[in-house]
Amino acid sequence: MNLMEVAKEAMNNSYSPYSNFRVGAALLTKSNKVYKGCNVENASYSPNCCAERTAFVKAISEGEKEFVAIAIYGGKDGKYDFCLPCGVCRQVMSEFCDKDFKIYVSNGKEIKCYTLGELLPNSFKLEK
Ligand code: THU
Repeated sequence: MNLMEVAKEAMNNSYSPYSNFRVGAALLTKSNKVYKGCNVENASYSPNCCAERTAFVKAISEGEKEFVAIAIYGGKDGKYDFCLPCGVCRQVMSEFCDKDFKIYVSNGKEIKCYTLGELLPNSFKLEK
């Protein structure tokens, strides 16, 4: 199974009539399950949910607790550049993932891999 291909498939359900920026995400759990997510926009704008958070909320609400990697694919008007997660999504990831959690992004030709520690260093976390 190719995680980036699943992210591309997830993008097909993107509801993004306001930005026309379509995003899909595929979240891999330690138990080897994959949860898909897409961005879901709203006429009131602020209730917007990014693809990454959709995938996390789906997984967490199904009882998943441990995550290995996420693949993200997206763009506007059929132009796909490396779609890096927004700051809010990085913070959500930091709630549930370690620093070595892998974040894969692609422009359709090449895949880049980052760790959460690289994309959100010195993050705010409460002791559990
Ligand atoms: N978006 C995502 O879903 N994930 C990202 O990583 C970046 C941005 C969405 C939010 C909004 O629906 C649209 O893309 C344009 O910002």
